Amino acid sequence: MLALRLIERKRNGGRLEAGEWRALALAYAKGHVPDYQMAALLMACYLKGLDHGETVALTEAMLRTGETLDTSSLDRPAIDKHSIGGVGDKVSIVLAPLVAAAGLAVPMMSGRGLGHTGGTLDKLESIPGFRTDLSLVEARKQLEEIHCVLIGQTSEIAPVDKKLYALRGATATVDSIPLIAASIMSKKLAEGLDGLVLDLKLGSGAFVQTLDDAMTLGKVMIELGHDHQCPTVALITAMDRPLGRACGNALEVEEAIQSLAGEGPADLMEVTYALGVEMLMLGGFSGGRGEARATLEKLIRTGAAAEHFKRIIKAQGGDPRVVDDPGLLPQAKAVEIYAAPRRGFVAGVEPRAIGKAIIDMGGGRSQMEDPVDPSVGLVITAKPGDWVEAGEPLGTIFAADRGGIEVARHTLGKAIRISDEAEPPLPLISHRISRDGVEQLTSD
Ligand code: URA
Repeated sequence: MLALRLIERKRNGGRLEAGEWRALALAYAKGHVPDYQMAALLMACYLKGLDHGETVALTEAMLRTGETLDTSSLDRPAIDKHSIGGVGDKVSIVLAPLVAAAGLAVPMMSGRGLGHTGGTLDKLESIPGFRTDLSLVEARKQLEEIHCVLIGQTSEIAPVDKKLYALRGATATVDSIPLIAASIMSKKLAEGLDGLVLDLKLGSGAFVQTLDDAMTLGKVMIELGHDHQCPTVALITAMDRPLGRACGNALEVEEAIQSLAGEGPADLMEVTYALGVEMLMLGGFSGGRGEARATLEKLIRTGAAAEHFKRIIKAQGGDPRVVDDPGLLPQAKAVEIYAAPRRGFVAGVEPRAIGKAIIDMGGGRSQMEDPVDPSVGLVITAKPGDWVEAGEPLGTIFAADRGGIEVARHTLGKAIRISDEAEPPLPLISHRISRDGVEQLTSD
């Protein structure tokens, strides 16, 4: 009865009180509200919006419904990064071991693929044996021992986000500023953080398409962090083309491993280092930003970050040999080169279409229960602004069968635009937002 009244009120443009959000979150976590009613409420929220007070109340309700990680006795600051999601965004897999090797504790709680975007949990689970469903006690122990844990929402920690996240992905209710803010901040605040860095992806492959929306989302999340004594800063980064080259679960893990070995694509490394510097600064790094960056570069160069990733994989039940031999990751059965149909400039590489094609190839979900084929995806070497000759390889398709190859060929034919004129892409890292204001950055 409670849910029906709340759905009606939201549908009619009304607002829900903090106590109502709390009661609803609790009832949903206990299974007393069915998914079909929650789906209707999500759609009403998506269409009618939530005011600031409701966003705060929903975040709080989601946070308080689960347990929180106690990081108070760790011997180092607990700092995390979260991206609002994109295509080819494997930053977390490079960044978490890297900043842990630099001396931070990283209790990173991620999600699965959402909408057209990939999810860190699905990517990590392409490593044979890797477990992301650790209990709070296991997560805490690992954090003490190796200073980094890569987990998902569970029935203990962020249980409401675990359910809503999957439901939103299957009901076209993802790209809503208040729902994204509550989803991200409820799980990040449950991690017991001393600081949080947000990667606000902007562009057609992201959940926000305009600079104004990215700023609004960033400011809401920064305030939510501040209200919970979790200093939060955000960088706005480009998602008008895929990040790096690989898109698809196992392929992205392979590219993350290459990056940890010092062979990462320039754009991926630039974003990783920029976010890493912010994390170190929030963690009280004693030198300046330049020194923070040099520290991170050195940890890649010496192999210390890659070694740390092996320790994380081993601790979470995975096969650490993948770091030295990515051939142990799931391999696609059908592989084909995609070549340029004509000569000219690469005018654009449309990320949303690529993300959707990967779902159609079996590499993501369109329904909550769909299995995921970790081996499929695309490696796109062409970048906006490149000059290409007809017949030159632009990328490689990794599919389960001929049907998957055809889906990918058709998509790439539309997603990679070749034209006589180059078109400027969005700057890779355009703004830094903190409680002190917005700083425009120059990059690219
Ligand atoms: N990442 C999340 O954790 N939640 C969202 O809603 C979007 C991106």
